[in-house]
Amino acid sequence: MNAKKIVIAGGTTFLGQILTAYFTERGVQMVVLTRGANKHENGVNYVHWNGRNLDTWREQLEGADALINLSGKSVNCRYTKRNKQLIYNSRLESTRVLGLALMKAKNGPKIWINATSATIYRHADRPMTEANGLHGVGFSVDVCEKWERMFFRFDLPKLREVTMRTTIVLGKEHGAFGRCKIWQNLVLVVNTETESKCSAGSMLMIFAVQNNELNGIVNLGAPEEVKNEQLMHELRDAVDAPFGLPSPKWMLEIGAVFMGTETELLLKSPWIEPEKLKELGFHWEFPTLEKALAELCAKDLFAATVSKPIVAH
Ligand SMILES: NC(=O)c1ccc[n+]([C@@H]2O[C@H](COP(=O)([O-])OP(=O)(O)OC[C@H]3O[C@@H](n4cnc5c(N)ncnc54)[C@H](OP(=O)(O)O)[C@@H]3O)[C@@H](O)[C@H]2O)c1
Repeated sequence: MNAKKIVIAGGTTFLGQILTAYFTERGVQMVVLTRGANKHENGVNYVHWNGRNLDTWREQLEGADALINLSGKSVNCRYTKRNKQLIYNSRLESTRVLGLALMKAKNGPKIWINATSATIYRHADRPMTEANGLHGVGFSVDVCEKWERMFFRFDLPKLREVTMRTTIVLGKEHGAFGRCKIWQNLVLVVNTETESKCSAGSMLMIFAVQNNELNGIVNLGAPEEVKNEQLMHELRDAVDAPFGLPSPKWMLEIGAVFMGTETELLLKSPWIEPEKLKELGFHWEFPTLEKALAELCAKDLFAATVSKPIVAH
């Protein structure tokens, strides 16, 4: 699909910025729905919404080719009662109100891509595909299940609906890579049996917009799994950290309190198989962890303002 206009809800930070820059450079008219102020900046139209109520912003959907929803309070926080509620509300309400807006649109988009997370799968001892993956239990799984149910509850027969079960994304300046580097700078290493996959959400989302066959639930991650031990080893090499100290779970729990985060983000094992993407011939630019980390650690690492999309383990 050659998109001319794309609306991104929650497109102001990590993944959204990458997508917005990518499409703007290619002449696509980008509209970002944000809780921030209306403005026009670097060729992008920022339109205010509150992520909850139908309002004039819904006119932006008219004539758009694609709608991408990335809205959601970051899960990189302590799971207090208040934060949990914000995590639920920011995802469910934004998805609900976008569904309602699409129902009312006369000339709306042909594809709706909604974020979700690979954390929906249970702590894995085998790869989880879209077809045979098993759900886990607990707060983050419940968030994803409710999020996906909300996404699929609208009757929108003319629309291609894609929900991306995304693994942790590594980016040059944002996301998990920066946090991994902080752990490394503290010379900590996680020594668990965890399998993990980190991905490049942005390139894969671009593929989803452009590939007319992609539909339904899609696993979004790198093609090969990597053990956490290997990730930490290669990360140390990439950032020239001299050594790492084994850190048992209790130590990580204490560190997570000081860092205002949860150990689940480090310790849960989202071992997914991106079967649909493989079947449709998606090409991973950085299919190995080594190549991805080399790219992330390139000399211009801290100079770039927007991360280059990258596929990593
Ligand atoms: N990054 C990853 O590794 C990863 C992995 C799996 C899934 N995901 C999912 O992919 C989506 C995008 O990820 P990201 O890392 O780019 O997200 P992000 O930077 O944490 O935030 C996405 C956007 O959500 C909006 N937002 C934040 N708090 C909100 C709230 N309380 N109510 C309504 N909107 C709120 C913000 O837009 P405004 O402030 O402009 O309104 C923000 O730009 C998220 O839904 C995330 O859960 C990400």
